Amino acid sequence: MSSVPGIDLANRVIIITGAAQGQGEVEAAHFAELGAHVYMADIKDEAGEAIAQRIGATYVHTDIASEADWAHLMGRVMSDHGRLDALVNNASIYWVRTIEEENVEDFNRLLTTNVGGTFLGIKAAVEPMMAAGGGSIVNVASIAGTRGLERHVAYGSSKWAMRGLSKVAATELGPKGIRVNIILPGIIDTPMSWGGGTKPVISTFDHIPLQRVGTADDVAGLVAFLVSDASGYLSGAEITVDGGATVGIPRTN
Ligand SMILES: NC(=O)c1ccc[n+]([C@@H]2O[C@H](COP(=O)([O-])OP(=O)(O)OC[C@H]3O[C@@H](n4cnc5c(N)ncnc54)[C@H](O)[C@@H]3O)[C@@H](O)[C@H]2O)c1
Repeated sequence: MSSVPGIDLANRVIIITGAAQGQGEVEAAHFAELGAHVYMADIKDEAGEAIAQRIGATYVHTDIASEADWAHLMGRVMSDHGRLDALVNNASIYWVRTIEEENVEDFNRLLTTNVGGTFLGIKAAVEPMMAAGGGSIVNVASIAGTRGLERHVAYGSSKWAMRGLSKVAATELGPKGIRVNIILPGIIDTPMSWGGGTKPVISTFDHIPLQRVGTADDVAGLVAFLVSDASGYLSGAEITVDGGATVGIPRTN
């Protein structure tokens, strides 16, 4: 009989940020289906509470940019379970502006949330994960952190920075048994890509070999793998989930 681990999250204690909609919501539901104790962290309390009730998870109001909120969330998890097995730093804010349109206050606010919030999450998770004998952290970057995407000055900078932060964390925390991996989604069908509408703002699939945008389900399977023992020797990895968008060059003839 094989001893290859599968994706089994039974009784795993998992925090996911940005879980009140989009990818985080779908991932939280998937983890719960796989048997995990899921803690959903977000600032959209009404939606978060309703989803948590529906999927059998626990919602805790958490602004990822607030160290006090992280302390409150970890306090709750530790008093319930005495350990943390996995953290998905999924929450981010996003807007599209040129360098000339962007202002320093908003630039700093975006970095404080996306990068600072991920840093605070990693920092807050170390002790609770050591209490579990190790853990898995997944940081959600973007293909905007692999290129110089126009009109993404603040967001693109934050996603590049999250990759660097994740590499340092993987190096420092590996000896403590904590794995840190990075995913880089392409365009995923969630409110973030809708530009205020109801479907992704995209005019052509020419640059996407799989010829479609991604779904939150596409990402959830990958993240479940990364928080499970099936990825036990993976740390510091960066995995694109973009339908191949960043590997090819669109045909011009
Ligand atoms: N949708 C895409 O096309 C796409 C592409 C690449 C990367 N991503 C990344 O995927 C992740 C998930 O995005 P999504 O598509 O589900 O976006 P989304 O906008 O639908 O959801 C983001 C969630 O994060 C929450 N959030 C925002 N600020 C927060 C804060 N300060 N504290 C706690 N929660 C906060 C929001 O309330 C929301 O529930 C993000 O890191 C995003 O940058 C998304």
